[in-house]
Amino acid sequence: MASSKSLTRSGSGKVRRVVVVGGGLAGLMTVIKLCEAGVPVALFSLVPVKRSHSVCAQGGINASVNTKGEGDSPQVHLEETVYGGDFLANQPPVKGMCDAAPSIVYMLDRMGVPFNRTPEGLLDFRRFGGTLFHRTAFAGATTGQQLLYALDEQVRRWETVDVEDERGERVPGEKMVKKLEWWDFLGFVVDDEGVCRGIVAQDTKTMAIESFAGDAVCLATGGCGIVFGRSTNSVINTGTAASAAYQQGACYANGEFIQVHPTAIPGADKLRLISESVRGEGGRVWVPRDLKERRAGREVPESQREYFLEDKYPGYGNLVPRDIASRELFKKCFHEKRGVFNAASGTNENEVYLDVTHIPRETLHKKLAGVLEIYEKFVGEDPYVNPMRVFPAVHYTMGGLWVDFDRAANGSLVIGSPRNQATSIPGLYACGEVEYQYHGANRLGANSLLSCLWGGLVTGPAIATYRQNVGKSAFDMPSSLFDKAQRREQKKYDAVLAMNGSENPYALHEELGQTMLVDCTIERHNPTLDRVLAKIEEIDERSKRVGVTDTATGKMNQGAQFVRHLQNMIVLARVIALGAKNRDESRGAHFKPEFTQRDDANFLRTTLAFHAGATNGSPNGVRYAREFDYALAGKAVHVTDAVDISLVKPRPRKYETAGAASAAAQPGSEPPRDAPGPAKTGATA
Ligand code: FUM
Repeated sequence: MASSKSLTRSGSGKVRRVVVVGGGLAGLMTVIKLCEAGVPVALFSLVPVKRSHSVCAQGGINASVNTKGEGDSPQVHLEETVYGGDFLANQPPVKGMCDAAPSIVYMLDRMGVPFNRTPEGLLDFRRFGGTLFHRTAFAGATTGQQLLYALDEQVRRWETVDVEDERGERVPGEKMVKKLEWWDFLGFVVDDEGVCRGIVAQDTKTMAIESFAGDAVCLATGGCGIVFGRSTNSVINTGTAASAAYQQGACYANGEFIQVHPTAIPGADKLRLISESVRGEGGRVWVPRDLKERRAGREVPESQREYFLEDKYPGYGNLVPRDIASRELFKKCFHEKRGVFNAASGTNENEVYLDVTHIPRETLHKKLAGVLEIYEKFVGEDPYVNPMRVFPAVHYTMGGLWVDFDRAANGSLVIGSPRNQATSIPGLYACGEVEYQYHGANRLGANSLLSCLWGGLVTGPAIATYRQNVGKSAFDMPSSLFDKAQRREQKKYDAVLAMNGSENPYALHEELGQTMLVDCTIERHNPTLDRVLAKIEEIDERSKRVGVTDTATGKMNQGAQFVRHLQNMIVLARVIALGAKNRDESRGAHFKPEFTQRDDANFLRTTLAFHAGATNGSPNGVRYAREFDYALAGKAVHVTDAVDISLVKPRPRKYETAGAASAAAQPGSEPPRDAPGPAKTGATA
């Protein structure tokens, strides 16, 4: 087959595209940057891109713009992010993200995102967890939706732009972005040298399985909250793509770090987020002092309320980082049984009050209408006059596919380096929640939209450089390579369709979710984790005897698709639970009462997990590595589990005392010794 000298067309004249899987913020931003670099893209999404999970983000996006003159800066943002993440994040990528944050927000503003503004017309910023500054830009309480729609418009523009070759001649019928919605990612096409050359995906409307060449592939497929049953995640967030990548040899890092958001409400399909921005705007968390308090929340007098976060954390109050807030709620409800009393059941529920009834209706409407509407719709009570009843829910996946970075002399990233966001499989990149890189052991609220966008901004140029150096294009590889990968996935799917055992896949998922949720989230104990691991093995065994609930071919078959996702969730569950078992310390979202201290001597390192099936034939094993090599455009890169702490020295987190004297502090004053940045106003400022 003729080899291509053109970066636009292969030897046989095909347009050389890069494959991006995932149509949320990270994926769309990657697409935009690739197009700006002149690289045509094939964009795959499991759902219409405007329904990607980014749409659910509510509270805002962090950027230290400091319009309120509080002394905030990208440096403080960096420090608070790594401090909030309990020092498990490599610091150069975080610095890059925090430095870029103000320009990212201004870029979004130019794209037309309807950010809230101050009376003077400036962008408004609100408070969020883990900081004492007003650092979070927001569009009411539907920020994710506004950002996603803005990027979707940009990508739609690229869908109309013709591909041009090096001579500036248009390639007939070919547009810069080819968008394939309703496609489920199945696996990669990998050549004999282990280089990723494309993907295999399934059209979920016809269930046809096809392979697609890509000069590189970027996964931007989000987190895996559905492993825990119901969560604040969309039901599509099963982590199936990340699991498939791991099973094909990609390293999975810090899998044990799963974030539980303190405030959510129930729903039959999922748990709905009640944004941290509610507390950022002054919402207060409390429980009745009297265990048998029978009155409705609004009737409980002030003196009879215990504002337990404000009492214990006078500086940060209701806006301590999520790992801490969730743990305090858990303690109050589970250990002390002090949750809100439910007259119908006669028990104290695992719920606390989140109260905004003291905030003027006009303010609530302007800043929080979107989320309060959700509460009213799903709970059937008016949150403007009744304290809301909320409880913690699995929310975010800090761990994920391991990705690399290239550190610049100034401590940030070398933009355009092909190492940035590269996974351990050459030619495969990852960005957004599917990767592990930015949040360490605990993500700060409103850093997730930021990390998705920054991830995309970095990944696009990285892939563009990689593609220039890749040698042979995927579009010049023999078709037999793609046929083989397609047959492999077809065979797996046919095997699922033929499953006629007695186990119900949805019931198995319920069991998996329940065990992971109850025993592998806020508090973890080793004997219990042993039971979780045994249960995962049991579920894995039983999953081989499921009966597929739908055997239809040639049209949508969600039953068979779900069995595949279940199989992949079981694999990720094992990585999460085993990682939790192995980490005998308490760090960020990973809390073991038997090991309450952070243990920097032993655990200030990244958990690097490989699927053992990829190396020694054992299908279920997890192989942990302290170091490994991967190849980037033919050159070996050596990786270790050491965390890059070159910018902010690790120290214990002390949110109890930090910021307590803040009311007296002036903008620009020295930070308290135990807090990352200058002290500022209190919780309800
Ligand atoms: O609470 C929230 O609005 C969530 C934000 C986030 O997870 O970043």
